[in-house]
Amino acid sequence: MNAVLRPDTPQMAHQPLDSRGRPLRDLRLSVIEACNFRCGYCMPADRVPEGYGLDAASRLNFDQIETLVRGFARVGVSKLRVTGGEPLLRKRLPALIARLARIEGIDDLAMTTNASLLAPHAQALRDAGLGRLTISLDALEPARFAQMSGGRGQVERVLEGIAAAEAAGFSAMKVNCVVQRGVNEDQVLPLVAHFRGSGHVLRFIEYMDVGSCNGWQRGQVVDSDSLRARIHAQWPLQDLPSQYTGEVASRHGFIDGQGEIGFVSSVTHAFCGDCHRARVSADGHLYTCLFASTGTDLRPALAHGEARFTAHLADLWSARADRYSELRNEQRSARRGKPVEMFLIGG
Ligand code: GTP
Ligand code: 5AD
Ligand code: SF4
Ligand code: SF4
Repeated sequence: MNAVLRPDTPQMAHQPLDSRGRPLRDLRLSVIEACNFRCGYCMPADRVPEGYGLDAASRLNFDQIETLVRGFARVGVSKLRVTGGEPLLRKRLPALIARLARIEGIDDLAMTTNASLLAPHAQALRDAGLGRLTISLDALEPARFAQMSGGRGQVERVLEGIAAAEAAGFSAMKVNCVVQRGVNEDQVLPLVAHFRGSGHVLRFIEYMDVGSCNGWQRGQVVDSDSLRARIHAQWPLQDLPSQYTGEVASRHGFIDGQGEIGFVSSVTHAFCGDCHRARVSADGHLYTCLFASTGTDLRPALAHGEARFTAHLADLWSARADRYSELRNEQRSARRGKPVEMFLIGG
């Protein structure tokens, strides 16, 4: 019998395509909703109170997280990104990373952090099996950095975190900078100058209309094409091919061989067609789009164990139809209800 036609082959039973033919490959897992920063584009201090966060008991515990990730791996996820909020605020994070690193099928384990608390933990994370780090860094100039972090952060701590991560063996880190017109545009060229030739990959991200508390306005977006032209005028660039289908950032190499930079342009060039990403909040809700307004509570299915959870997940993914950024760009009303905040479902 032709194995491809058998309805119960693992491929057919467990690796669903969504309603637009997209597989599930990439899971963004938030381990905590709290953050020690208050970046204005994400968690503005005047909208999100000091001490904001769930009580610890409302978060998935490590056993639940492990079962959840095993389930996601069975439906096709091979890439796992641990996020927050700020994930380093989660207690005993290296112990969780060690459990996740052992899960069969997960061959890319990464974490996004603001790196302010990274220095003392970098080695433990590396030893636990964390493969890659992505650092959020919106300014180099100390006063501008402090402003961008809502008066909470010091850029020196972040640079120390990056240095400690290098010493611990993390290489080719991604450094993500969200650019807001008139706020940190002046930091773009200094950041490029700083990271050129470092082996790390600086990426500029278009400010997105994600969530509702940042008061996003289209005029605050600096489009990637104009930013690329500005950088190219100083350090000539050439386009590089994507490294994998569905890569979010476009790649641009310095012609003088000093590495590459990237742009994430979800406002001006939507990339929903290849979106293989799911997000899970710290309290166990599945969001099938960054711009979703509702999530599905996965905890009841998790309580039934890995097999039942996997089947439930396959059903949920099969029903997915999200393509918010494309609809926004077609000027169609894509929003339904109050959108979830990005600090709840990760960067
Ligand atoms: P790599 O695995 O290193 O290629 O990382 P990545 O680029 O897939 O992930 P990262 O978390 O670094 O994404 C960078 C930024 O792109 C995020 O912080 C978001 O601002 C944006 N982004 C990531 N995924 C999506 C998505 O699915 N939709 C939209 N609209 N933006 C996204
Ligand atoms: N627009 C673009 N990226 C955002 N992030 C958070 N809020 C926004 C937004 N409004 C992303 C940034 C940051 C990560 C933690 O989340 O990439 O580095
Ligand atoms: Fe915290 Fe990252 Fe949001 Fe800034 S962007 S407030 S560091 S979660
Ligand atoms: Fe994926 Fe939604 Fe982002 Fe489109 S807007 S790329 S569907 S997360």
